[in-house]
Parts: sequence; structure tokens; C-alpha cells
Amino acid sequence: MKSWIRILRTLRVWLALFILLLARFAAAQAPATTATNAQPAIPKPGPLAAPRSLQQTGLPLAQTRATIPADNPQTPEKVALGEKLFFDGRLSVDGTAACASCHQPDLAFTDGKATSVGVKGGVGQRNSPTILNALYNKTQFWDGRVQTLEQQAELPIINPVEMGQTNLDAAVAAIANIPEYQMAFSNVFQRPPNGPDLTRAIAAYERTLFSFNAPFDRFVAGDTNAIDASAQRGWVLFNKQGRCNKCHALTDDQPNLVSFTDNDFHNIGVGIIRHKVVPLARQAEQLVNSGNAPSVDRAAIGSEFSVLGRFLVTKQMTNIAAFKTPDLRNVLMTAPYFHDGSQDTLWDTMDHYNKGDGVQNPFLDPDIQPLALKEEDIDDLVALLASLTSDDYKEQGAKELARQRALSRTTRPQRDTARAFGPKPVQPPPPKP
Ligand code: HEC
Ligand code: HEC
Repeated sequence: MKSWIRILRTLRVWLALFILLLARFAAAQAPATTATNAQPAIPKPGPLAAPRSLQQTGLPLAQTRATIPADNPQTPEKVALGEKLFFDGRLSVDGTAACASCHQPDLAFTDGKATSVGVKGGVGQRNSPTILNALYNKTQFWDGRVQTLEQQAELPIINPVEMGQTNLDAAVAAIANIPEYQMAFSNVFQRPPNGPDLTRAIAAYERTLFSFNAPFDRFVAGDTNAIDASAQRGWVLFNKQGRCNKCHALTDDQPNLVSFTDNDFHNIGVGIIRHKVVPLARQAEQLVNSGNAPSVDRAAIGSEFSVLGRFLVTKQMTNIAAFKTPDLRNVLMTAPYFHDGSQDTLWDTMDHYNKGDGVQNPFLDPDIQPLALKEEDIDDLVALLASLTSDDYKEQGAKELARQRALSRTTRPQRDTARAFGPKPVQPPPPKP
């Protein structure tokens, strides 16, 4: 009996050793990129993924209804189909990435990464924006290269560093034989699964993701105690000394409380020093001339041309490295910041503005200039931005604010007090074409 146990024990040790060796071997075989950028599991659609109520303080009802296109009316069944597709990895080439991989409900439909990671560890050049309130965007993407949510939905599916399909029909084929989908498409569209209807359903779901009900909304509605004194000072700074209203408002003096954007594009100096943009722009012109939306999409997300921003749409020199003014609602939950995810905290973004970018940049928007904001002013602006967090993210938001505050107490890589309180630097002229 005893000797049997001994034999079994030895066998177990050998087995464990063998498995260890096998694991080692497998790890050595795996390419380095997948080891470091392994695709996390696709999130499940929990309560934060559910279509939002229209009864929210601050929600503009007429404007919300006006976002629904005539050829894609909202129905609950279509929205449910769209939600299902949004979370379904089977739309991607290897099943590992869904829309929700990079637009996670828990992170206000962003991914928490500087730049997004798609199938097979492919790393993009751009930061994933929130889908909350994307229905109000006049254009989609950081450079506004498409207008509608329907047009937008096709591009990540066929982008090699996102969902990696060769074309939309390949994604349709991946789900076309699943009875649930056959039934849902036939109920909603009276047709079998197909590309245009697939993007319609996803867009219809996205048009239910409005997000208001923030302390700031209650403040505007007349509850003067809804935001604290610091956030209230922040609101004054936002519209005066901070000059934020120059871009994060409809016009300089008409606030856009729906989404805090002028729906325009500006070069505010993000990322520009790392690239030689003028020779890049010359190379990019041909690509833009081709008018091929998937090629421009690949360039914008997967190549060095990404930094050219709005230029990739307009070929205007003045649009070099200009990006869309983003919505500021729920911004506390969407770190890291800017189109390239280059800033970790809201304090860092405020330091960036305070020094007026601080580098010689011929394309810099004239409204970017040193702001002479004191440390308390920056705290007030951050308090204001935090007050734009919808109640859906109240608890996570409080944690995130504490995390960012702690980080900002130890590191402020963008702070440059001399520049912030100095004169506006002379802007170099744009290079001759
Ligand atoms: C691999 C990550 C990834 C996947 C998968 C992905 N996205 Fe995105 N999404 C991004 C990034 C990054 C951007 C910004 C790209 C740009 O501006 O060039 C973006 C932009 C968007 C925008 C524009 C928002 C705005 O404010 O301009 C929408 C809408 C959107 N995605 C919806 C979707 C949908 C729908 C799917 C699935 C069909 C999807 N995304 C799949 C990363 C991803
Ligand atoms: C000249 C126009 C302009 C002005 C003035 C301006 N912004 Fe912006 N803001 C933008 C643009 C454009 C972006 C995106 C830039 C990029 O990613 O390259 C942006 C990005 C941001 C972001 C990051 C959002 C995200 O999702 O990554 C925050 C936060 C922000 N702005 C807040 C402010 C505040 C607060 C002020 C005032 C102190 C301000 N902005 C002034 C145009 C402007």
C-alpha cells in the first residue's frame, strides 16, 4: 500500500514538472505582442449597458429626437439587436474583440488605455472615445471623417488593428447562421442578416446611450447646492480666464450644455512635437485624394499619419494636427486623455492648457495661450469637470477622482509655471507649401 502511494506521489511530481515545461515552451512560442497585449475578455452587458431613460435632468428632448434619421427609426427590438451585436466578439475576425472591448460600459464606454488594442494584439494610434452622447456628435471620430453612427459602425469591423475582418460581409457571414440572429433580423428588418441593417441596429442602440443627470445639470436647473463652491468657481474660470468656452461651447458666449463642444476641430498642440508633420502631410495627400474611406480609416488608426488629424479629411494646411473638440460629459471616467491618450489625469490636461501648449507650433489654435491659472484655479476647473459625471458613475467617479488626485500630488509632468505666467510666445509662420 505505502509503496503505491509513493509511486503515485512521484508520478504527480513528474506530471507537474511536465506541465510546467509545456507552459514554458508555449510561452516561448507565442509572439511577444500577444503576450503583452493579450485581449481581455469581452465585457458582459450589465445594467450600465442598458438603454438610458429619457427622463434625465439636463437631457434635451427635442434635440435627442432630432438625432434619429428618417431611414432608421428606433424600435425596442432593433435597439436590443444592436446591443447584442455591440457585445458580440463573433463580429471580429478571430472572435476576440467586440465593440464593447474598447467601449466598456464600466469605463463610460472607453477602454482605459492610452490607445486601443484590437485583434491579435494590434495597437492603434488613438484613444477610444466614449459612446455616451455620441448621438449628438455632428461628426464621428477624432478627425470627423464620417458623419453618421451607421457609417461609423462599419469601419472598426474592417480595420486590421480593431476587429480585423476583410469586409463587412465577412462579419455578417459569421453571424448569419445563428438562429437567434436570423430571427431578430427578420423581426426587425424583415430580411436575413446583412451589412447595412447590422450597422443600423448598432447605431440605434448607440442612440439610446444619452447620459445626463450630473450634479452640474441639477446646478443649472436651479439647485445652487448641487455642486460645491470649488466647482462653481471652476464654471466661472471655464468661461473667463480659462477660455475653455472658446471651443467647448457652441460659440464663444453661448454655452453648449448638451455636450460642451463647438463641433469643430482645433490644433491644441497635442503630440505634434514628436512628428515631422509637414513631410507627412505631403505624403498623406495622395491617400486623401483616393477618397477611400477604409484606407483613410486604416491610416488614421494604424499609421503615423494619425497625427495629421483633420488634415486627413480636408487637406487644409491649417487643419494639420487639428482634432475634434470632445464632449466633456463623464470626462472623469474617460482617462487617459486627448486623441492619443497622452495625459493621465485631468490635472495634466489643465497643465497643458495653462502653459498654452508651450512649444513652437505654427498650426496652434490662436485661442491656446498661457492662462496664468494658480494651483487653486486648476483644482477648481477639475472640480467642475468632475461635476459633469452622470449619477450612473457616481461611485466609480469618486474613486477615479481620488486616484487622479493622488497621482497628481506626486507627478505633474506637464506643469510649467514659468510659461503659464509668461507672455504668449511668438508663433512661427506655417512653412511654405
Ligand atoms: C480595438 C478597439 C475598438 C473597437 C473594437 C471598436 N472601437 Fe470604436 N473607437 C475606437 C477608437 C480608438 C476610436 C477613435 C478612432 C479615431 O477617432 O480615429 C473609436 C471611435 C468610435 C466612435 C466615434 C466616437 C466619437 O466621439 O467620435 C464610435 C461611435 C465608435 N467608436 C463605435 C464603435 C462601434 C459601434 C464598434 C463596433 C462595431 C467599435 N466602435 C469598435 C476603438 C474601438
Ligand atoms: C482652442 C480650442 C480649445 C480650448 C480653448 C480648450 N479646449 Fe479642451 N479640447 C479641445 C480639443 C480640440 C481637444 C482634443 C485635442 C486632442 O486630443 O488632440 C480638447 C480636449 C480636452 C480634454 C480631454 C478630453 C478627452 O476626452 O480626452 C479636456 C478635459 C478638455 N479639453 C478640457 C478643457 C478645459 C477645461 C479648457 C479650458 C481650460 C479647454 N479644454 C480649452 C479644444 C479646446
